[in-house]
Amino acid sequence: MPRIVALVSAVPEARTVLDLFAGSTRVAQGLKSAGFRVTANDLATYSEVLATAYIATDADSVDVGALEEKLAALDALPGVRGYVTRTFCEEARYFQPMNGARIDAIRAGIDRVAESDTERAILLTALLEAADRVDSTTGLQMAYLKQWAPRSHRPLQLRMPVLLAGAGRALGEDARACVRRGDAFDVAYLDPPYNQHSYFSNYHIWETLVRGDVPAAYGVARKREDCRTTKSAFNQRANAWTALCEVVLGVQARHVVLSFSNEGFFTDVAIRALLAERFDEVAVVPVDSPRYVGARIGIHNPKGERVGEVSHVRNTELLFVAGPDAEAIVERAALTDGAVAAGTGR
Ligand SMILES: C[S@@+](CC[C@H](N)C(=O)[O-])C[C@H]1O[C@@H](n2cnc3c(N)ncnc32)[C@H](O)[C@@H]1O
Repeated sequence: MPRIVALVSAVPEARTVLDLFAGSTRVAQGLKSAGFRVTANDLATYSEVLATAYIATDADSVDVGALEEKLAALDALPGVRGYVTRTFCEEARYFQPMNGARIDAIRAGIDRVAESDTERAILLTALLEAADRVDSTTGLQMAYLKQWAPRSHRPLQLRMPVLLAGAGRALGEDARACVRRGDAFDVAYLDPPYNQHSYFSNYHIWETLVRGDVPAAYGVARKREDCRTTKSAFNQRANAWTALCEVVLGVQARHVVLSFSNEGFFTDVAIRALLAERFDEVAVVPVDSPRYVGARIGIHNPKGERVGEVSHVRNTELLFVAGPDAEAIVERAALTDGAVAAGTGR
């Protein structure tokens, strides 16, 4: 995130940024903290909720005392065995049942006490982050740990999210529809899915928590039934290139910063050529990164015994910068970010 913020900060006279695939909103938050006016978009409902809390809400306009009172009352609710307890604590083991029952009670409580969309988003963000701190996974929700994670034994505790001052916007649209709106930005940051692994499935519990629905669940992981049918074009080899072209060629932005893994569907040569169709100059910064957590944990049999090693535990994240003076932007960013300086190569 600091590298991406350094690159965007090196773009001359940039004020407005579109984060088209905002996900956790980590990058969008970094950009807002750096003073940019950020629009965060993502198809996932949980991402739009996070963006409503962290990006669209101006911390200075929030009555923190009133919200803290509501959080304390929600935190004190006795647990109630509901959908989360049954599905994610009994049929699966993502949370300890005592925490699952509190999640059920708090989730229902939020709908009773939230007085606006902003308040609801802040309270849901607090619940999501509290649940995240006591889950029993490696981060992704495609599986839970065979043995309870030590943190899962701790009681769930709601905390006030650290909101950011300033204006921003949260959208929950398909990236292509968002681009077709035609809104103009100084910089667009594009971090699309890079392979077939669906974020909707990998974070299915967050989706269910924020929606507050009770979908049929399937398999050992107890995923929502609609994980079978909710497929992003960016996760499908046959459609991802057309979708990426539509977004890169259609987005109204003077500069584009695009993240892509060297293990993704497309080569760096193909992405560079696509960006060059639209922008005069393209530069690339390779960043050495740890691979996704599953790869680092190794291969295990159904009993949880380690039976194999994955071939490699690091990959290269490619950061493309496209637009006027792209090379100079990368050079300027390197001055403020030692890691970019060490990794620069075109
Ligand atoms: C690589 S992740 C982005 C991570 C993000 N930069 C962060 O800091 O957490 C890709 C994101 O694209 C979203 N996504 C997938 N298909 C989409 C689509 N068609 N339109 C908009 N967002 C989409 C996923 O929900 C996921 O959050």
